[in-house]
Amino acid sequence: MVKRNTCVFISGRGSNLKTLLKNSFNYNFPINIKMIVSSNINAKGLNYAKKNNIPFFILNNKCLISEKKILNELKVRKISLICLAGFMKILSKRFIKSFGKKIINIHPSLLPKYKGINTYNRILENKEIQTGCTIHYVNEKLDSGKIIHNKRFYLQSNESEKSLMIKTQKLELKAFSEAIIKIFSY
Ligand code: GRF
Repeated sequence: MVKRNTCVFISGRGSNLKTLLKNSFNYNFPINIKMIVSSNINAKGLNYAKKNNIPFFILNNKCLISEKKILNELKVRKISLICLAGFMKILSKRFIKSFGKKIINIHPSLLPKYKGINTYNRILENKEIQTGCTIHYVNEKLDSGKIIHNKRFYLQSNESEKSLMIKTQKLELKAFSEAIIKIFSY
């Protein structure tokens, strides 16, 4: 199987990154993770980069490194897929256009519902019956690109923001890899 060189963008814990990395070691999973970008220098998820000797870069508002430099690193490593896995920064239109290849994002709601932040709170306030997570292509509008895959569950009567978060994040770990398999199985 030809594995596509992939870069994962994170901002925090990196549980999605951890699962993607684990799956990438499987010979028939379609990606290899060759680079990691974090918007936060203290992101716990960076430990997975360090442990696995994967080059990583910090991209934040303090501009330690610019989007232009990141684009160059992506090119050098022949990256053909970017996975935004809990990346809390909005990429510029110019970056998306210049990269010109697939960028996918995971979002903790059933898109097109609840784009943006504070999803769990809004889902509870609207007394939704179902929720879940969505993986979609990234375009210049927030959480609005073509949907690749989603996974859902029914809310219980005593659901809290915390319980929703735990259930959604558990689903995300499966859904992200399923979406990647789906993209490359056509
Ligand atoms: C995920 O729930 C994702 O949907 C949200 O941020 C969380 C990232 O978790 N945007 P992790 O860093 O992969 O653990």
